[in-house]
Amino acid sequence: MDGGQILLSYIKVWVILLLLSATFPNSKLAAKNTEQDKKRKLAAENSGISIDCGADEDYTDRETGISYKTDKDFISTGKNKVVAPEYNLTTLYYGKMVNSLRIFPEGERNCYTLKPIQGKNQNYYVRAFFRYGNYDSKNQTQIKFDLYIGVNYWATVEETFENKYWINYDIIHYSVTDTIYVCLVNTGFGVPFISGLDLLFMNDSSYRSMNGSLLRRVQADLGGEVSLGTIRYPDDVYARIWQLDVSLTDSVSNISTEAITNIDIQGSDNRCRLPVEVLRTAVQPRNGLKSLSYTYTSPYKENFTPEFLVFFHFAEIEQIAGGKLREFTITLNGLKYGLFTLEYLKPLTIGPYKLQDQEGLVRFSIDASSDLPPILNAFEIFELLPLHDSPTNQTDVDAIMAIKEAYKINRGDWQGDPCLPRTTWTGLQCNNDNPPRIISLNLSSSQLSGNIAVSLLNLTSIKSLDLSNNELTGTVPEAFAQLPNLTILYLSRNKLTGAVPYSLKEKSKSRQLQLSLDGNPDLCKLDTCEKKQGSFPVPVIASVISVSVLLLLSIITIFWRLKRGRLNVPLSSSVGLSLSLKSKNQPFTYTEIVSITNNFQTIIGEGGFGKVYLGNLNDGRQVAVKLLSQSSRQGYKEFLAEVKLLIIVHHRNLVSLVGYCNEQENMALVYEYMANGNLKDHLLENSTNMLNWRARLQIAVDAAQGLEYLHNGCKPPIVHRDLKSSNILLTENLQAKIADFGLSKAFANEGDSHVITDPAGTPGYIDPEYRASGNLNKKSDVYSFGILLCELITGQPPLIRGHQGHTHILQWVSPLVERGDIQSIIDPRLQGEFSTNCAWKALEIALSCVPPTSIQRPDMSDILGELKECLAMEMSSEISMRGSVEMSLVLGTDMAPNLR
Ligand SMILES: *[C@@H]1O[C@H](CO)[C@@H](O)[C@H](O)[C@H]1NC(C)=O
Ligand SMILES: *[C@@H]1O[C@H](CO)[C@@H](O)[C@H](O)[C@H]1NC(C)=O
Ligand SMILES: *[C@@H]1O[C@H](CO)[C@@H](O)[C@H](O)[C@H]1NC(C)=O
Ligand SMILES: *[C@@H]1O[C@H](CO)[C@@H](O)[C@H](O)[C@H]1NC(C)=O
Ligand SMILES: *[C@@H]1O[C@H](CO)[C@@H](O)[C@H](O)[C@H]1NC(C)=O
Ligand SMILES: *[C@@H]1O[C@H](CO)[C@@H](O)[C@H](O)[C@H]1NC(C)=O
Ligand SMILES: *[C@@H]1O[C@H](CO)[C@@H](O)[C@H](O)[C@H]1NC(C)=O
Ligand SMILES: *[C@@H]1O[C@H](CO)[C@@H](O)[C@H](O)[C@H]1NC(C)=O
Repeated sequence: MDGGQILLSYIKVWVILLLLSATFPNSKLAAKNTEQDKKRKLAAENSGISIDCGADEDYTDRETGISYKTDKDFISTGKNKVVAPEYNLTTLYYGKMVNSLRIFPEGERNCYTLKPIQGKNQNYYVRAFFRYGNYDSKNQTQIKFDLYIGVNYWATVEETFENKYWINYDIIHYSVTDTIYVCLVNTGFGVPFISGLDLLFMNDSSYRSMNGSLLRRVQADLGGEVSLGTIRYPDDVYARIWQLDVSLTDSVSNISTEAITNIDIQGSDNRCRLPVEVLRTAVQPRNGLKSLSYTYTSPYKENFTPEFLVFFHFAEIEQIAGGKLREFTITLNGLKYGLFTLEYLKPLTIGPYKLQDQEGLVRFSIDASSDLPPILNAFEIFELLPLHDSPTNQTDVDAIMAIKEAYKINRGDWQGDPCLPRTTWTGLQCNNDNPPRIISLNLSSSQLSGNIAVSLLNLTSIKSLDLSNNELTGTVPEAFAQLPNLTILYLSRNKLTGAVPYSLKEKSKSRQLQLSLDGNPDLCKLDTCEKKQGSFPVPVIASVISVSVLLLLSIITIFWRLKRGRLNVPLSSSVGLSLSLKSKNQPFTYTEIVSITNNFQTIIGEGGFGKVYLGNLNDGRQVAVKLLSQSSRQGYKEFLAEVKLLIIVHHRNLVSLVGYCNEQENMALVYEYMANGNLKDHLLENSTNMLNWRARLQIAVDAAQGLEYLHNGCKPPIVHRDLKSSNILLTENLQAKIADFGLSKAFANEGDSHVITDPAGTPGYIDPEYRASGNLNKKSDVYSFGILLCELITGQPPLIRGHQGHTHILQWVSPLVERGDIQSIIDPRLQGEFSTNCAWKALEIALSCVPPTSIQRPDMSDILGELKECLAMEMSSEISMRGSVEMSLVLGTDMAPNLR
């Protein structure tokens, strides 16, 4: 009998047991319901994924309570099939699951994508079922294909029509990625297929191997009764399938206990969490002999790794007179372990023992060391599967997935890991590093439209990128020049616009980069057009700005030091602002700051460059004092920018500066105090101060007014750059004011856009165009304002946390807008107290602010106009609603007599 036959007969015995178990009344299971319930609960904690491949619909298995899902959320390729009628299994046990299958006639590699909620760096029990079942009526006698877990070889599946039942491969896999791929690879011996796939979270370090995954070879329950069948889910919390092992039958006798509730399975001794049904039976040598022995020969000779892990499981189930204990040693492939002692009703797991054997032989004996014979309740043998290959660098994987998503690339072969095993992704090439990196991407003639995806810039090892012959619009990102190894960049025959970034042209001139740009009629390649667009190298702008800010600040400081307290000239007059208030910017000494804040007693916030304290001026006014933390170099620049701005601009919707302190080491800004904190806190899920719809609209109008003033009321215009709900502060009366101008930039010529090397801002609010190209203008603020409006309307943060990471608020809102489902969009806490018309209008305004390209976004003055209209609409509808309530009350009394 060769290995394959051993395996087949093994499976047959097992299946017969299963068939029997389905026909006998299952007294064992029925006997102990409470115990069962407890385990069901345990099992329920282990929310895994069970897929019935080829099934038409989701269902719950009647016997086990396992919820099977169809393939549809896990794979997009392949075809559903059912087994030939003569193979239709009617037994409950897996019957339904193994009667359907999914086949993969196309593609060299097809992969299931599993995303367990427990995520990466966890242990999982993965099991795949295969059954040919003559689905194609071709009586195939040899189908062979490879199975991969992630990027590593797992097994070679061989199936024939002669096998009535199924084969399953079980593996304990430690996943270093959030996504686990199970791939079927066509090796030229027939169409790959699969019947079922399970994945269970296994929080158990006992089964963890540092050097690979564990292939299950034997999971033997000893001494059980045939009629009680196989033990599995939900008795087993990990859904392991315990096979009744009868290979020792001739030399052993069976023992068991009925005292099942007394076996301490919850204790830490049961570290592999064996079910009580497995532990309550055991074998011992017959006729007073003192030794149990067993031999296993691996039937797998292809891709065989000669390393095994063996676990022995014991529990003393006999109460021995005189309190004597069983003592024994274990000899495994010639090595002796022990002495071991068993205590009554206490589980004991010994192992895992590692061993190597080139012949694939595992031989053990358990030998008594006292006059009591040894017992064995169960054992497990695993083969170690080394994981030689690491999956593709995660940064590259995330980037290529984002690209796939952005351009809706729908290619059957773009599935599984991009680089391994063997690249099957057309247009993509990888290097041989471990982990591999993506080095080449050819998406020419792929009908791509929209901007050049930002994610392309995250493929940091890329050497060659071909995007020619598509419909790409927008500008060429300068950041391409920062990809160190990029030597080929083909962008010809697209609809790109703007100027070609200087640095790319330089690289091309110096022959570091083959740049091709032909066939983009609106793209300006001349040097002059760059000058015209004012995009001279960024460091120059940055240093000019910081030098002038420094200059300005020192002039101001000297000015104030000289004239302290006497002169009150509004510096802002140079900007041509109408000032209703006199400038109250007043310099403070550090000692004064200490006294104002009562020695920094009360912290009321934490800003971009340090903590914010509550303070009291002599005249009784409350102020907020922002102290620059001394470690913050970045903060110093922001501090200067903010001072520079706030001493020249004043508006009722911008937070105003009361004074500042600039004494070398100690710098602080003193603002008017905003009693109601920031908008973000008001919108938090657990906020106690719920803002009603009208208040939200008013806040939107206020913020729009502040921003409109920065953009259109200031010369030069000012771009805030970090507009977000935590930068909108609220007064006692909920009047909104914009704060935190640390990142803002003023631009000498209106209409200019500037290239910034370090796109700053807050995730969720950053204009995607600005992030991609570094081109900054007023429209970047408009985008952030749109997000802010969405936040006000929906009550959701810009990045909504979920199981699979974050969802951007726009991704969340878009499908709801398409469905016209305004009720699900509007913050449920408003409980319907808003007029639907007004809500739609507000949403429309919000969405008009966020198209991907800045040209499509309106100016703040238009947005302000629309928002004011919206607010007016809401106010009038509130009035008419109140009116109609009164009306119906009147009608109610009028109609009452008629009803009688
Ligand atoms: C298999 O048999 C069951 C019960 O007789 C039946 O409901 C089911 O449709 C059959 N399935 C196939 C694939 O023939
Ligand atoms: C398949 O085998 C069955 C009996 O085993 C036979 O009746 C049938 O003709 C065979 N079909 C083909 C296509 O060979
Ligand atoms: C895994 O088990 C340990 C110990 O039982 C527990 O502390 C830990 O929280 C568990 N982890 C998960 C993710 O369930
Ligand atoms: C992993 O393998 C290395 C050598 O390949 C070995 O030194 C190490 O002991 C192994 N670690 C474990 C936990 O088996
Ligand atoms: C022990 O149990 C196995 C499986 O039920 C059975 O085949 C065997 O005959 C039993 N042995 C004895 C000695 O009863
Ligand atoms: C993947 O690539 C990124 C970017 O080059 C790098 O920072 C990271 O260390 C790489 N990860 C691994 C596991 O090599
Ligand atoms: C680029 O990679 C960085 C770091 O890995 C990540 O934070 C960012 O979201 C990625 N950007 C895109 C557009 O994929
Ligand atoms: C660029 O190529 C060089 C040489 O092949 C290599 O050493 C380096 O790691 C590559 N850089 C990146 C970011 O992949």
